[in-house]
Amino acid sequence: MRKNIVAGNWKMNKTLQEGLALATELDEALKGTTPNCDVVIGTPFIHLASVAAAIDTTKIGVAAQNCADKESGAYTGEISAAMVKSTGAAYVILGHSERREYYHETSEILNSKVALALANGLTPIYCCGEALDIRNANTQNAFVQTQLEETVFNLSTEDFKKIVIAYEPIWAIGTGVTASTEQAQEMLAFIRSIIAAKFGKDVADSTSILYGGSCNAKNAPELFAQPDIDGGLIGGASLKVADFKAIIDAF
Ligand code: 13P
Repeated sequence: MRKNIVAGNWKMNKTLQEGLALATELDEALKGTTPNCDVVIGTPFIHLASVAAAIDTTKIGVAAQNCADKESGAYTGEISAAMVKSTGAAYVILGHSERREYYHETSEILNSKVALALANGLTPIYCCGEALDIRNANTQNAFVQTQLEETVFNLSTEDFKKIVIAYEPIWAIGTGVTASTEQAQEMLAFIRSIIAAKFGKDVADSTSILYGGSCNAKNAPELFAQPDIDGGLIGGASLKVADFKAIIDAF
């Protein structure tokens, strides 16, 4: 059966010292507990190695928030999937709407990133989700389907089985407006149905699909109780241990 996952995305927050303090505090908070979900923290690149060395990575997986679409070479400022892997990180968040919007990441670029992540043994947490105008036009299903068809649906079944999907409606990110439980469940069930159509029911049933967008300690229990919601990708609420731990405990 598929895994439940609560993954934090710190985005561009926390200095190295602050990030280390946050990670070690979470590590302490989880000591002696057995969460009913996998726990992941997505830190800035420069934190990855220090954080991975400071915590029990068998209990808290470490994720990068991006990786390069090139393998290596003269790409000043870029961080490759192999470099991410060498820090001790096991995951990489790819296709986040902020990267698609502000850094112009296209499906073509994302296909390279996903392929390089997989080739280097990283688990991609692959994000999809629509903007408000698309939701208002009620065309969100077709939009998300296209996002997936242009990218991760091109993977082989074996590779697709290695990825995690995160649905994050852009209108719910950082806005305090969460998708209703019904909207989130409906979309995740739809995503699972198109995975089933493409890769078969067994693959769909074993794919972890997360919801992201103003997920917090209050709304997590109801969201996570839905049959197709296998966890959350958490932004703001992952920056405080008490809040993030409460979301983990929602499982
Ligand atoms: P918030 O939880 O702050 O809305 O962010 C969600 C998100 O974008 C996680 O990747």
